[in-house]
Amino acid sequence: MRIESGKQVEHFGAVRLHPVRRVLELDSGVRIPSPIKDSVEPQRIDRDVIAGIQRELAIVLPIKDEDVKVFEGVLSGIPHDCLMIVMSNSRRGEIDNLKKEREILDRFCIATKRNALIVHQKDPRLGEALADCGYSQILDEKGLVRSGKAEGMLIGILLAMALGKEYVGFIDTDNYIPGAVWEYAQHYAVGFSLSDSPYVMTRLLWRYKPKMSGELYFRKWGRVSEITNKYVNHFISAKGRFETDIIKTANAGEHAMSLQLAKKLTYATGYGVETQELMSIFEQFSGLASPVDKAVMEKGVDIIQTETINPHVHEERGEEHLLKDILMPSLSVIYHNPLCEDGTRRLITRHLIELECIPRDGEVPSLLMLPPPETVDAVKFGRLMDRTLSDYAIPKGWPVGVSLPPAARKTREAAKLVFTDLDGTLLHPVSYSYAAALDSVRKLQEAGIPIVFCSAKTMAEQQVYRHELGIADPFIIENGAAIVVPKDYFRFPFSFSRIVDDYFVIELGAPYQEVRSKLRKLCGKQEAKVTCFGDLTTEEVSKVTGLNLLMAALAKQREYSETVIIEGDKKQLQSTLAAIEEVGLSYTFGGRFYEACLGGDKGKAVKILLELFKLNFGDAYTVGIGDSLNDAEMLTAVDSPMIVQTGDKRWNKLNVKNLKRVSGIGPEGWARAASEVLGGSSHKK
Ligand code: GDP
Ligand code: CO
Repeated sequence: MRIESGKQVEHFGAVRLHPVRRVLELDSGVRIPSPIKDSVEPQRIDRDVIAGIQRELAIVLPIKDEDVKVFEGVLSGIPHDCLMIVMSNSRRGEIDNLKKEREILDRFCIATKRNALIVHQKDPRLGEALADCGYSQILDEKGLVRSGKAEGMLIGILLAMALGKEYVGFIDTDNYIPGAVWEYAQHYAVGFSLSDSPYVMTRLLWRYKPKMSGELYFRKWGRVSEITNKYVNHFISAKGRFETDIIKTANAGEHAMSLQLAKKLTYATGYGVETQELMSIFEQFSGLASPVDKAVMEKGVDIIQTETINPHVHEERGEEHLLKDILMPSLSVIYHNPLCEDGTRRLITRHLIELECIPRDGEVPSLLMLPPPETVDAVKFGRLMDRTLSDYAIPKGWPVGVSLPPAARKTREAAKLVFTDLDGTLLHPVSYSYAAALDSVRKLQEAGIPIVFCSAKTMAEQQVYRHELGIADPFIIENGAAIVVPKDYFRFPFSFSRIVDDYFVIELGAPYQEVRSKLRKLCGKQEAKVTCFGDLTTEEVSKVTGLNLLMAALAKQREYSETVIIEGDKKQLQSTLAAIEEVGLSYTFGGRFYEACLGGDKGKAVKILLELFKLNFGDAYTVGIGDSLNDAEMLTAVDSPMIVQTGDKRWNKLNVKNLKRVSGIGPEGWARAASEVLGGSSHKK
């Protein structure tokens, strides 16, 4: 796409307000290297840049009893790389509109090889999960999510967060022009590409609002927008020294934002939602109210406005209470913003009285607000939704993990200690299930024996299993790159690198970005096909690993090491591995993928953690359970090393002294190993 290049940006505290930019070309062609740098010229955003952003973009499609033909058209306009989240509040019962929508989505996804989610806003499980996560403000007295597009948008944001997306955008499903839908998604990506900040919002302005015979709809919006823009600009002007009319999109229903930003905002219910997003940004990041969020203030927030060129034609609604229902909420959120000056408030009140929206001596009513999504425990929400997600998934059959209730944990004494690998060991190499080992886990817990995970998995992934199994012991993440210790676990103080939530983190490996940049040096130069998890979407990671979508999103949250897929023959593989070492990285093989990192290994991490156990609880007899080459260092560091069988009922060859081979694949073998721990002696070697 080619759009007008940047004009004068206005600053409002840490918020950068970009003037509306117009599109010059919807498609700017294939990139041909040119010696002329165009900085003054209109700005060109390449197709692959747009597609790259769309891979991290979830499009939320609110729908309430729309014409299914129109809905079908909208779907066909959503670019292939975006993940679709359909948020329905359609009628169910005798005429089941949800069922129709689901069928259409299913057919579309199968034919186009795409994935999507369709969720009904009134699903009781959704209400329950939100109540459990402390977000009951969105629920009605029956415990169901309240009706309303704003509420639907919020659920969409939470799901996009849980699925590990970076951006979320909204597109109404009553849009008659698929080409316009496509254009919106292009604009979202283009807007994001123009910002260097992780906190960015793109809002769209329609150039063409076709005049139709029953033109009411467009006129009303035009009018409402005009008035709302006026007062938002008045609000800003009253705060600064210069008058401004920069905001042209105060009511923009078509908009998108980075989830980093979305999760910090306070949302209004009803028609005030879009205006309130802006007001919430001003309130938090103009620097005029305290406390300030340092991270955001440093990077700044970009509000990008672009003008679309396809006509916006959508379902017409009746004109009842039009100003009252639509204008009033928009002005209400400006009026009730704590930063709003009295002068602006007086003008708003007068205007609403003139339009007979409120009585002469009346008050401007305030709207119900929904607190920032970041107040929801995202991991917990994800875990709760994990059980229901398979029902929302289109097409059917995305793999979904098992979840079991955590058992009460007994006090620890640590006369014995178990270190265990996860993938292929406690978790089945194919199904990722720990079911076969569950009884043994419980027995170890009853005996007060700590179970320390020591795995290539990320902190986020391990949290899920720790929570499901009720394990509260320290754990070693990303192949020994860091040790994570619950804050209250050890009595004596020790040195750590960082505090993350309720954990002390001891870091042994270099940060992920460093590993990534070293890997980039060798990518593309190899004969083998080299793919990093960081380059894949959540859906793709789910496909190659067989992890369900939620776990795939967590697997992508790497902090120290990168998972690398190398495809090629033996020679190509060897030369790629040599190249990895040449750029200064080390690697381990986890059975299917390679794990590249810079510093830190499982053995070193086990040793450090053991010292802490010793210091706090005295000497312990240590057992290690693993399955593959990357467990060798961990197994060497324990008193009793054991390996379980791989998927084809073999044992991997490991060079570890006193290694005991237990029969049973993954968790089955794990159960046998655990019974030896319980029954066996605890003599130190
Ligand atoms: P307008 O176009 O902004 O005037 O508002 P509409 O009434 O046309 O609704 C905008 C979009 O939100 C459409 O796609 C509707 O189908 C959808 N929508 C309306 N109400 C709800 C609701 O309660 N829940 C959800 N999920 N979507 C809704
Ligand atoms: Co509409």
